[in-house]
Amino acid sequence: MSEKKTTGAVIGCGSISKMHLGCMKEAGYRIGVLCDVDAGRAEQMKRDFGDERTRVVTSFEEAIRDADVDVVSVLTPPVFHAGQTVAALNAGKFVYCEKPVVRTLKEFDAIFAAEKSSGKGAYFTPGRMRGGDTPTVRQYVNDGEFGDIYRVESKHWRMRGRSGVDTGPHWFADSQKALGGILADMGLYFMDRAFHLTGWPKITSVSAVTFRPFPYDLPSDVPYDVEEHALIMARTEGKLTFTFELANMAYFDDWTTNTLMMLGNKGGMHLRSGRTEEFRFLTEKGAPGRYIEHRINWKEGRKTDTIIYEELAAAVRGTGQVKTATSSREALVLHEVMAMTYMSSHNRREIRPEDLDQNANIFIKA
Ligand SMILES: NC(=O)c1ccc[n+]([C@@H]2O[C@H](COP(=O)([O-])OP(=O)(O)OC[C@H]3O[C@@H](n4cnc5c(N)ncnc54)[C@H](O)[C@@H]3O)[C@@H](O)[C@H]2O)c1
Repeated sequence: MSEKKTTGAVIGCGSISKMHLGCMKEAGYRIGVLCDVDAGRAEQMKRDFGDERTRVVTSFEEAIRDADVDVVSVLTPPVFHAGQTVAALNAGKFVYCEKPVVRTLKEFDAIFAAEKSSGKGAYFTPGRMRGGDTPTVRQYVNDGEFGDIYRVESKHWRMRGRSGVDTGPHWFADSQKALGGILADMGLYFMDRAFHLTGWPKITSVSAVTFRPFPYDLPSDVPYDVEEHALIMARTEGKLTFTFELANMAYFDDWTTNTLMMLGNKGGMHLRSGRTEEFRFLTEKGAPGRYIEHRINWKEGRKTDTIIYEELAAAVRGTGQVKTATSSREALVLHEVMAMTYMSSHNRREIRPEDLDQNANIFIKA
């Protein structure tokens, strides 16, 4: 008899579910259950990605109870993420959940406890940026080509692309549902990449500002309170400092800017990310006083989420580990930096991890 295919359940069949379902199929999954409070959306995904056995349900509890399901993908609006992740773990499933994850840092305790008692793992999507050029850059770091890295700068600016205002459903603009603005929506990806590349150094303080709003035209019953701009400086216990600049809207002269700069005392690199762009590594190695440039146009043939679903399938079988997605411990660190950012902006001072209140809302309106 042939081995059972890894079986996935998707909770929330909205915009991003198409990408997840496509990657699940590429990774050899069967789509076992499609769940959405709007049954029509789940039916549509069944037509596009399912088979005759794929179940369509509107109840999350029913979806995670399905004995055939190995991996639950949580793709609902963020306010549901932590609760659905914990419930799916407790139902004995591996979980791959979209970002952001929690309203308070304390909620991670329940995730860790459910992982421990179920023996299953919860993984999160900020690691989505660990594909593409990232493994090559990481190899340079591990080979010591940078020397001591003292500065990482990550910048993601859009001229106009406010989630929930210019694009996507309105819930993105409402902190009650989205749990944050550009920091939660995009910032977590860039932080994950920067911390992953530098081995997750301990963050000792954050100084930050966030900004809102720009003029907007939304129906009066649509809440809009999330930030569209953030400037963050994060110190570590060593000499390395990170800066993150994020903007969903800015009056500047480029439609979108997406760069990563990593500077070490032996070499440095500039990554202009995007599909066709390259990373440039500068060094004087072997040629003192002369800059040597390596240009690497390293393209990952497959989507990072396909690799993550393959890793999850191996974890289900007990034959491998999930390395490309963000672990729950790493996700906690990302949310701590988020919490320090909002608190620093609000209090207009540098914030340390010990200043954080585990039970407080991470999001604070700018
Ligand atoms: N849209 C994107 O380009 C994109 C990209 C990356 C990540 N994400 C993340 O993916 C998540 C979902 O975003 P989206 O754009 O797909 O949103 P969406 O609004 O298009 O889809 C969410 C779906 O969840 C359903 N839903 C809501 N509550 C539910 C519940 N309790 N149980 C079951 N279904 C429920 C909704 O009916 C909807 O179909 C968010 O965390 C977002 O940050 C989105």
